[in-house]
This record gives sequence, C-alpha cells and structure tokens, in this order.
Amino acid sequence: MNFKLIVARWIHKFLIHTEWMTENMRSPKTIGLAWVARTLMNYSNAQVSIDIVNRMKLKKTDHVLELGVGNGLAIKEIAKICENNIIGVEISAEFRKKLLNKKLPKNIVILENDAKDLSNEIPDGSIDKLLAINVIYFLKPIEEYILEFRRILKKRGIGYLGCKFESIKNFDIEVAPNRDERAIISQLSNLGFNASSDFIDLGEDRSRYTLIQFEKQ
Ligand SMILES: C[S@@+](CC[C@H](N)C(=O)[O-])C[C@H]1O[C@@H](n2cnc3c(N)ncnc32)[C@H](O)[C@@H]1O
Repeated sequence: MNFKLIVARWIHKFLIHTEWMTENMRSPKTIGLAWVARTLMNYSNAQVSIDIVNRMKLKKTDHVLELGVGNGLAIKEIAKICENNIIGVEISAEFRKKLLNKKLPKNIVILENDAKDLSNEIPDGSIDKLLAINVIYFLKPIEEYILEFRRILKKRGIGYLGCKFESIKNFDIEVAPNRDERAIISQLSNLGFNASSDFIDLGEDRSRYTLIQFEKQ
C-alpha cells in the first residue's frame, strides 16, 4: 500500500460519518477531501470495475452509457471492446478535468449532465447497456433517475449497478439515502424492469460487491 493511500485512509477514517466527507465521496469538490475521495476510489474500485465490465458481455456494436465515470477505470475497459461512441456522464467538474488530462480513447464522450435528465443529449431507446458503479446510493429521488434509465434504454436493454453496501453503511444518510438492496430492486421492478442481484466476492474487502442487473421489459 503506498504512502498516499495510507494518508487518504487515515483522513477518511476520522471523517467517514460527516456530511462533508460523504458529499466528496458522492462528487469530489472540496480541496483536500476531493483528493482523499479520488485516491480511495482509485484503490478500491479498480478490480470491481474490470470485473463488472467482463460480466456485461459487451459486443463491439453495443451503445453503452456509464453514469458516474469517476477516475475512468470502467469506461477505459469498455473502450477496449466497443467501437461506437461510449457516453460517460460525470457531474463533477473535478473528475471531468482529470479525465480530460488522461487522453481517453477518442470514442469516449463525457457529458456534464446530472443523470436525472439526459434528454438534451441521449435519444429515447438508444442505449443497449448502462453501467453505474458506486453511484446509486447518492441519486435522489431515485425514482426520477430510474425513469430516465427506462427512457434511454432500448427494449431488453440492460443496466448494471455495482454496489458496496457494506462500505457505505456509515455514510451520511441525507447524502447517500439508497443503501438497501431490496428496496432498490423493488423500485426498479415497480418502474418496469426485471431486476435481480448477485453478491460477488473477488477475495479482498475492497473487491466484494453486489451486482444489481435490470432489464427493460
Ligand atoms: C463514488 S463515485 C464512483 C466513481 C466510479 N464509478 C468508481 O466506482 O470509482 C460517484 C460518481 O458519480 C458521479 N455522480 C454522482 N451523482 C451524479 C449525478 N446525479 N449525475 C452524474 N454523475 C453523478 C460523481 O461525480 C462520481 O464521479
């Protein structure tokens, strides 16, 4: 474990319950805490991002959207397979600036929208696969986002939510209200999806996660 990571984990341990820290885990913006959030996400989410993209069974021709691109760990894996434009939705200016500096593959398009309303950019029924890793906890009201997922996905299009419910259980509840797997599945089912979940254990604390899949009926 490198020195930067040790420092980031130490700061996070003291601030984990605070609204301030959770806000930065949702979308990094405060100097110092944004660095802590980005450093922890890079370390904790690399393996999970690669694993989920493998499970998505992407085709070259798929139209894919990732919500909450963050450090770009998953979208870079998607770009190794998909040839069409890949849409990344990233509300954090801090993350967008870092992504620009990373010289991502040319078919990655980053949008600055709040994912609640993508109607100015994404046509109805145009997306085959949608991915959001460590994002669903923060979306409120969740129903509005699920309705937008339904609008943009094709019939039989599939969404994938990577969730670490154990890691976020101490986050500020106002900022991260969606922490109940069964409630999320029931909200997806009520709004027209066939939803299910699996617990995936890749062997380390940071790589245990729940994968929620939902198919548009
Ligand atoms: C906890 S981070 C996860 C980042 C990355 N997916 C990962 O697992 O490392 C949540 C990400 O979702 C983005 N985000 C949160 N709410 C959003 C919204 N309403 N619309 C678009 N992006 C959002 C944040 O800016 C941040 O990049």
